[in-house]
Amino acid sequence: MCGIVGYIGDKDATPIILEGLKKLEYRGYDSAGIAILDGKSIQVRRDSGKIAHLGELLSKDPIHGSPGIGHTRWATHGEPSERNAHPHIGFNGQVVLVHNGIVENYLDLKQELMAEGIQFNSETDTETIVHLIESYLTAGNSLQEAVQNTLARIRGAHGIVVISTREPEKIIAARIGNAGGVVIGLGKGENYIASDIPAILEHTNEMIFLESQQMAVITKDDIKLMTLNGTRINYKIEKIDWDPISAVKGNYRHFMQKEIHEQARALTDTLAGRIDFSNSNIQLNTLNIDKIDINKITGIKIIACGTAAHAGQVGKYLIESIARIPVEVDIASEFRYRDPLVDKSQIVIAISQSGETADTLAAMEEARQKGAHIWSIVNAIGSQAMRLAEGFISMQVGPEIGVASTKAFTAPLVDLYLLAVLLADKKDLLCDESKSKLISQISMVPDLVGTCLEREAEVIEVARKYKDIEHILYLGRGINMPIAYEGALKLKEISYIHAEAYPAGEMKHGPIALIDKQMPVLAIMPKDPWYEKMLSQVEQAKARGGKTIILATDGDKRAKELGDDMLWIPEAAWMINPILAVIPLQILAYHIAAMKGLDVDQPRNLAKSVTVE
Ligand code: AGP
Repeated sequence: MCGIVGYIGDKDATPIILEGLKKLEYRGYDSAGIAILDGKSIQVRRDSGKIAHLGELLSKDPIHGSPGIGHTRWATHGEPSERNAHPHIGFNGQVVLVHNGIVENYLDLKQELMAEGIQFNSETDTETIVHLIESYLTAGNSLQEAVQNTLARIRGAHGIVVISTREPEKIIAARIGNAGGVVIGLGKGENYIASDIPAILEHTNEMIFLESQQMAVITKDDIKLMTLNGTRINYKIEKIDWDPISAVKGNYRHFMQKEIHEQARALTDTLAGRIDFSNSNIQLNTLNIDKIDINKITGIKIIACGTAAHAGQVGKYLIESIARIPVEVDIASEFRYRDPLVDKSQIVIAISQSGETADTLAAMEEARQKGAHIWSIVNAIGSQAMRLAEGFISMQVGPEIGVASTKAFTAPLVDLYLLAVLLADKKDLLCDESKSKLISQISMVPDLVGTCLEREAEVIEVARKYKDIEHILYLGRGINMPIAYEGALKLKEISYIHAEAYPAGEMKHGPIALIDKQMPVLAIMPKDPWYEKMLSQVEQAKARGGKTIILATDGDKRAKELGDDMLWIPEAAWMINPILAVIPLQILAYHIAAMKGLDVDQPRNLAKSVTVE
């Protein structure tokens, strides 16, 4: 979690870092701080609360200079407070550091440092790192040696950025493991460092990504990339073609609203270059699919967390129906702790917006060690999930800032559909006619999503009626069962309303006891193979006095008779329905939370990238 920004050059680092941190606030927002080398001394300003508080503090008590580093925090050790906020300064005041990760052996290190008489000023694990660096500096090491010696002593996964009064012309950044990325942005006579691309994208689109076990010594004119023991490595400069404008809110009230509305365009981008209409072929070039004999594959495992796992559950229906390969979906945080049965006859697909989710990366590593082929479906370019995989499919939807995932849910659905068709094709399961029918169905998605988005006003009316409920049950079946889970997750995470999702067929085995006038039921029942079953299950809920919101296909009279309120989606093939059905549910959740005046983009207790276990 946590966001990091750094700058070295002739400009004043403070406004650059502050603006960068604002763009990273989605990574954590319980406290923030900036440290600047001001001539010969380190100036630190930090505060609990959001970046806005830090901005106010800096206008009252400004600091100027370069280089500088900044941090926005999601607390792991120590409550959100000024003293626990980063940057942390060493005991002699010569080193200052920002950190992303958890020092697993920090208690031992802290005891050792305290025994040497070093006083701790926070409850964080991070403070052990800065004091260790300071100790090595004091013992005569250069800054680079001090960082290397320190990194050799801390356990866990980390991203760190350090500056020091002893060597004020440089910033040192390092990455160990998967606690979040470190990216260096190249400027002319200046360089930038960040945990994520959006923080520095307005300054440069040329970036170098640090891999695990790498560090960089960065001056305003030069970058030296090396292993943690100092062996120089050549670096590759990657050009990022994200539009910096898409990382700003524009006229929308919240990023989530903007990202919901971007979906028609974003899914056009997801499809771009992937369908060759002249011969009905799917092209997923970065997947390296030809390295695998698909006919020898016995099964696919999808691993992911939260919203991405819901996308995986829809993917199971798509791949099993189209490509006839058995698929299991695993919550990544559960996967590696049960000695999972995976081997080289299987493909493991990790789905992740950030590509930095610790549980997902750990599950990928577990599967890789067991010999499985590893693919990923990822949004963040250059992320670990992209790099660790043998092949990847990029979501191609641009940065997603709102903590509640929206376009990074619909994009993998499109990707999984394309993948299912490609796998079926490799297995020779599709005649030309079925292939072009499947392809024509997916190519209609951006238009159909556009139609769903045009209906926002109707959904707002439903939101107005239900904004004060305390509980709600989401029901779905078959391919739309994961959409019930996703709809409920959207509502609970941003509105704090207790929303529970159930496979509709399970109702009679217990949850139906919950239904009364206070417990509305939102039933997802577009025209699909499970439609008739859904009808009877909604009848059962209605018979017990439940109020019903029904999500149905345009023109469905039977659904209309059953619904107290309706959410409509346009007619589409059943495998496309989930991509459409989730749109009104995203809009509903968004407007309920916005009407309640809640912090939609940064809901309490959450962070966008979950880089801790
Ligand atoms: C959902 O709205 C959340 N943002 C969350 O469930 C998210 O999908 C999950 O943490 C996984 O994140 P990832 O896609 O970046 O791996």
